[in-house]
Amino acid sequence: MTSFQLRRAAPPDAPLIALWMAQPHVRRWWHQGWSVERWAQEIEQQAAGEHSRPCVITLDAEEFAYVELYRVRQDRLAEYYAYDDEDWGVHVAIGDSTRVGRGLGRRLLRTVADTVLRSEPACTRVVAEPDIENTPSVRAFAAAGFVQHGELQLPEKTAVLMVRTRTVQEA
Ligand SMILES: CC(C)(COP(=O)(O)OP(=O)(O)OC[C@H]1O[C@@H](n2cnc3c(N)ncnc32)[C@H](O)[C@@H]1OP(=O)(O)O)[C@@H](O)C(=O)NCCC(=O)NCCS
Repeated sequence: MTSFQLRRAAPPDAPLIALWMAQPHVRRWWHQGWSVERWAQEIEQQAAGEHSRPCVITLDAEEFAYVELYRVRQDRLAEYYAYDDEDWGVHVAIGDSTRVGRGLGRRLLRTVADTVLRSEPACTRVVAEPDIENTPSVRAFAAAGFVQHGELQLPEKTAVLMVRTRTVQEA
């Protein structure tokens, strides 16, 4: 099976990310259908800080998804559950609508969580907060090994807290 490649996003990726974010199936949940300029600024800002790591994902030499990894302790999510200092969070978007709903998301999310746990030895949990109404997302996270840990009332949505815990074998 071919594998995913994760790389840090940079401002020159802004046109691609803005295009993905403008797709209705992404915009509906991300609400970040911004201009190329705003995305370039956003990526630059994230790259300069410690809070998050924007990434572009490639499969079979084709860039197809955007992932943001973030430190929960520096995120607003920290206000909504009993986080651990080393928890990491993940936001995901497959930009091409013809590639969703085919099992790619669950494979990607499993790989992303495995990669975070491997590269951050102190981290024992990778979390996500999909909208409770975003069934494809909740199901893809669950199929990738994330477990539902209840609901969170965030300002703009009711979210499901999904948690992928480091296994005993991985520890
Ligand atoms: C969320 C996302 C990454 C999931 O990736 P994916 O490749 O579509 O997911 P998978 O194919 O692995 O799994 C999708 C699951 O949802 C189900 N599903 C898909 N469309 C559905 C629908 N309209 N209603 C109910 N279930 C649906 C599929 O049947 C599958 O579940 P199952 O195999 O348990 O039956 C992708 O859909 C995406 O990028 N969406 C737009 C952005 C987004 O919502 N991001 C998440 C923000 S937290």
